[in-house]
Amino acid sequence: MNSPEKCEIDTTADCGEIDTLDKMRWWQRATIYQVLIQSFQDTNGDGKGDIRGVVNRLDYFVTLGVDVIWIAPIYQSPMSDMGYDISDYYTVNPIFGSMEDMELLISETHKRDMKIILDIALNHTSSEHQWFQTSRRSRKDRSLGKRDWYFWSEGKVDETGKRIPPNNWESTFTGSTWEWDDMAEEFYLHIFGKNQPDLNWDCEDVRQALYNVLRFWLDKGIDGFRLDTMNLVSKTSEFPDAPIVKKGSIWQPANFLFANGPHIHEYLQEMYEQVFSKYDVVTLGEMSCGVSPAQAVEYTSRHKPRPELSLVIQFQHVELDCYDGDKWLLREWELPELKAVINEWQATLIDNGGWNTLWMENHDQPRAISRFTTSHPRFRALCAKLLCVWQYTLQGTNLIFQGQELGMVNPGMFTEEMNQDIETAQYWKAACEAAGSEHDEALTLAKKAIIQKGRDNTRIPIPWTDAPHGGFTEPDCKPWIPASEHGKDWCCFSQQKDPESVWSFYRAMIRMRKNHPTLYYGTYETLDMDNPFIWAYKRRSKLRCYLTILNFSSGATSWAYAEHGVDLKGSKLLISNYLTQEATLVEPILLLRPFEGRLKSSQVSSSTPRQLAKKAWQEESDSAAVPIRVFFISSSVFSLRQDDRGTRQSPTSSDGQPTTVPEDE
Ligand code: GLC
Ligand code: CA
Repeated sequence: MNSPEKCEIDTTADCGEIDTLDKMRWWQRATIYQVLIQSFQDTNGDGKGDIRGVVNRLDYFVTLGVDVIWIAPIYQSPMSDMGYDISDYYTVNPIFGSMEDMELLISETHKRDMKIILDIALNHTSSEHQWFQTSRRSRKDRSLGKRDWYFWSEGKVDETGKRIPPNNWESTFTGSTWEWDDMAEEFYLHIFGKNQPDLNWDCEDVRQALYNVLRFWLDKGIDGFRLDTMNLVSKTSEFPDAPIVKKGSIWQPANFLFANGPHIHEYLQEMYEQVFSKYDVVTLGEMSCGVSPAQAVEYTSRHKPRPELSLVIQFQHVELDCYDGDKWLLREWELPELKAVINEWQATLIDNGGWNTLWMENHDQPRAISRFTTSHPRFRALCAKLLCVWQYTLQGTNLIFQGQELGMVNPGMFTEEMNQDIETAQYWKAACEAAGSEHDEALTLAKKAIIQKGRDNTRIPIPWTDAPHGGFTEPDCKPWIPASEHGKDWCCFSQQKDPESVWSFYRAMIRMRKNHPTLYYGTYETLDMDNPFIWAYKRRSKLRCYLTILNFSSGATSWAYAEHGVDLKGSKLLISNYLTQEATLVEPILLLRPFEGRLKSSQVSSSTPRQLAKKAWQEESDSAAVPIRVFFISSSVFSLRQDDRGTRQSPTSSDGQPTTVPEDE
């Protein structure tokens, strides 16, 4: 057990806060808001969200405090995988609008001092892309060119003389990664759907063609990209069989054979040098099929002589609820496992010049409340706020997905109409085909997995108002996917008017973080690692120390903090997700209510180098004033307010009289 240690500034070192902040890139401090355009806001009554819908809602992002919007693929596409199957990178999909609409979106976003990044898939195209159409023809007629722009193989011949795929790799969307093409009379590789053939990055012309695409959009003024499945663009040069781990299946997981391949760093460095280095942009590489913290350092460390990406999106924390990366095989997990994953990412990236991304849900993953806590109506708002405290007090850039700020949960039901997603539909089809005699049991399990993990959980439209379809589209229009029943209290309009709503909490937390820069870049240290209910960690810089304490259980729990090196004397409660602050401290034990989350900040010593430290502290606390109303103490409401010019006013009590924020406990 550690001896109690005070959480205070290191008085022997220079105060580096201001310097550190100056050196930070804009995207390191950002909240990036992911817009799944098709489910965001429909403006022309076709039941599908569109670019104009995003333009109309730009002030919404400003109010929430968002810095960057990330727009789902808007390119020409047959939409078999929500636009991640691109058939023309240079054209806007008419279901979303026109190039003029995109230009308007870019300029209107910039007018509001926000940035905009586009989502783009460079690992594969749609099979309808001209490049693929030419490539398949040119297998027979070399003169057409583009012969090697995709991966082609004659495959093998089985005992019956039938042509079979060249190996046993399993597609992310079920079945083989190889599809026979009648025109080419060869198989082609597709890690995802059969309509999404993989581009061959080993071919120099392919890379150059893709760099031109990137330049085209960057020259339109966008501020970066979310690069879909970016770690898959270099495959093993041979195509060996994957080892058999799935008994009874021909197709075997082969992620390690197509992710983070032999030339990946070479290609990413080249892309940076030829394209991204010429612009002030953020690049967010989605690392599907596995990436370790050490690999992430390779991709993002600022110490590397040849840069690659700004950030990676990693998945280990959302893979705890499945076996061996197979998302449909549900697994129970324990809190210490989640802590261990986050610890490793926080520590490895902080110590090695990398930068974390912090996220809990997106268009491929279920809602975080349902996954990490519970959707039970009694706890839903508390859980939403608990998770928000978690995400906003870790080190890294924050990504939030549309509706997260409204505390949206999984709909929790199964209908085929609600499962339009290609991955889910193919899994369900395969499950039905394989069910055989164990029919009922196998299908019950498959349904359960879809209810918990299906991608349409987060693809349903956002409830803006309590009108039909949540105001996503006209009342008499049919949304492309049913908008689930959210109830009046959970719609955005009601939540914006309620200072105690999940939305107001997110807004406050986004602002709070901006005013407590230690939370951006400070060190991270977990306390009481094995505790199955409480997650407590310190974030620390030379000037400040913060303590986050989260009760991840639905029961009241106590925490003997002194046993873990914590001295709470002089600390202040900055944030709590409960509205009433009970006198629950029986020194040295802290009692936490179900799903209670707190953020505390420690007192700052004013010893040497006194003036520097004091000045920086003063500046930080001056800017700490945000319109935040998240806790009560002894039944008085305390709030920190900002006037119209952004100048700090004294904290006031509910009767409007200036008071000081009392120390917690
Ligand atoms: C990424 C996208 C996902 C898509 C897949 C194939 O993982 O986030 O939605 O299905 O790539 O492009
Ligand atoms: Ca529309």
